[in-house]
Amino acid sequence: MRAKNIIDLTDLSLEELTAVIDQALEIKKNPAAYADRCKGKILATLFYEPSTRTRNSFQTAMLRLGGQVIGFDNPMSTSVSKGETLKDTTIIMSGYADIIAMRHPMEGAAKAAALYASCPVINAGDGGHLHPTQTLTDLVTLKDQKGTLEGLTIGLCGDLKNGRTVHSLCNSMAKFGLKAHFVFISTKELTMPEYITEILDHSPCTYSFCDSLEEAIPSLDVLYMTRIQKERFDSLEEYERLKNVYVLDPEKMKKAKADLIVLHPLPRVDEITNEVDDDPRALYFYQAKCGVYARMSLILHLLEETPAQGITFGGEDASFRCPNPKCITKSEGYLPHACHKDGEHTCCEYCDARI
Ligand code: CP
Repeated sequence: MRAKNIIDLTDLSLEELTAVIDQALEIKKNPAAYADRCKGKILATLFYEPSTRTRNSFQTAMLRLGGQVIGFDNPMSTSVSKGETLKDTTIIMSGYADIIAMRHPMEGAAKAAALYASCPVINAGDGGHLHPTQTLTDLVTLKDQKGTLEGLTIGLCGDLKNGRTVHSLCNSMAKFGLKAHFVFISTKELTMPEYITEILDHSPCTYSFCDSLEEAIPSLDVLYMTRIQKERFDSLEEYERLKNVYVLDPEKMKKAKADLIVLHPLPRVDEITNEVDDDPRALYFYQAKCGVYARMSLILHLLEETPAQGITFGGEDASFRCPNPKCITKSEGYLPHACHKDGEHTCCEYCDARI
């Protein structure tokens, strides 16, 4: 059964993921063959948080498939500014569109929207939680450049604590059983959360920690840089202290393998110097372009005429209260409270925060 919503990439089966990645690479080779595939279809991009790549690549994807786009990039120019709930906005917009891509600062927002939408919902980033279409983009780029998704040594560098892109990448590779060795390059304060390392512990993936980019870089097949995300810090002082700890420059690139590829979900601030852009191993702008093919393929997959599976929503429990202050249940008080079990842990159904 085909997935209806993409809240996490693992809403796809491994077969579906493989088909979506392969189709994205086919689209890249011959985009003209797909120019009318979504004729008459409408994508709504509901962006409650800033974005350059995700929103515009979703819109480009739908336009290149022959469809049309509606939506907003500033909720304050909509009736959200008058107090309209996520539920009501979603019901209305899903009545206008065939598919929704939603970005929101609160964790679990896309799952909450999927409860009320009458069309498929794609999570385009929910706070520090998940960013499945970025992961799809990353996997398409890896397959395109390395010819495989397995057996790679992948360095993840920067803000591994708050980085939804690196969480999604580890989570997806682990759950799909794609074997990789991850090197977590960060300070102690910004290290990978334990819930991600626990997922990796139950997968074919292995991992190690390193606090020096210089030391780690020679062993890597892929270096995935991330921005230290000012907007996710509670303290400006802490951000200022940590913001320039890892900077990729030509000197460090000299120590890397000849076939290293450097990825970054972007935007970058200072963590990759402009000189690195001229290195043929710097593929982050190409990666952003692959995001269009990845999203074209995903939209096609979700709009296919085969039966789709609705949202899975387990464990409704009126007494459950999520402890995460950034959970969507904190700002949208009407949402049914619910949790699920992940091993021995009880987790919020929306944001996956553990009790
Ligand atoms: N990679 C990414 O999510 O970029 P935007 O925030 O510009 O969408």
